[in-house]
Amino acid sequence: MTTPRYFALVPAAGVGARMESASPKQYLPIAGKPMLRHVLDTFAASDAIAHTFVVVSASDGYIHELMNEGMHLANRVTVLSCGGATRQQSVLNGLHEMREQVGNEDWVLVHDAARPGLTLQLIDALIDVLREDAVGGLLALPVVDTMKRADADGRALATVARDGLWAAQTPQMFRYGLLRQALEQVDHCTDEASAIEALGLHPKLVAGSPRNFKITLPQDVALAEIYLKGFS
Ligand code: C5P
Repeated sequence: MTTPRYFALVPAAGVGARMESASPKQYLPIAGKPMLRHVLDTFAASDAIAHTFVVVSASDGYIHELMNEGMHLANRVTVLSCGGATRQQSVLNGLHEMREQVGNEDWVLVHDAARPGLTLQLIDALIDVLREDAVGGLLALPVVDTMKRADADGRALATVARDGLWAAQTPQMFRYGLLRQALEQVDHCTDEASAIEALGLHPKLVAGSPRNFKITLPQDVALAEIYLKGFS
């Protein structure tokens, strides 16, 4: 049996409507380079990662320039212009396009383009915990705030017990064959782990980091810059 390899798959085909910016949010400059470049540079610099695939929309007008500016990415990153209408569809389309290069037992680390705070240490920590795991897992953070369920008026209906609650991050790391099967079977999911859960399996939660948060709103950019300019 060959030793499983580790591949990164970065869905970057969203429009980021909540950012209210002219360009898609994955191309917004943060600490001197586009958000997506941070992510691709980190995976490209990782000795653990055999190769990275990035999924963009067929109409993406920015990825070519980004790849040209990062010449070192040429041998380490493949652009797949097969983005779908949802994140799930973009990931699934990417998995289909990768199939010639990846075996069913190889691991795929799916990571949001909108999380530029990922580090080599976080990638290594995830792989170290999961390399022998039967299911796979994801980076996540235990919830520390008291959780409220709101009604349509923004009033608290109830307090939700936070015991055992974690906030999911990415990368989410599963074997290629299992991940593809899970995403093909589930109707709708917002992350890979929930598709795996729908198969009755239990992904392992591995401690992530606050710096790996997902940039969603315009004010998130300033916080990301603090993390990316050297504070960790
Ligand atoms: O919009 P949101 O922040 O949840 O998107 C998470 C990730 O999924 C982003 O990297 C985004 O570009 C990607 N995405 C995608 N295809 C879509 C929607 C989102 O690749 N149709």
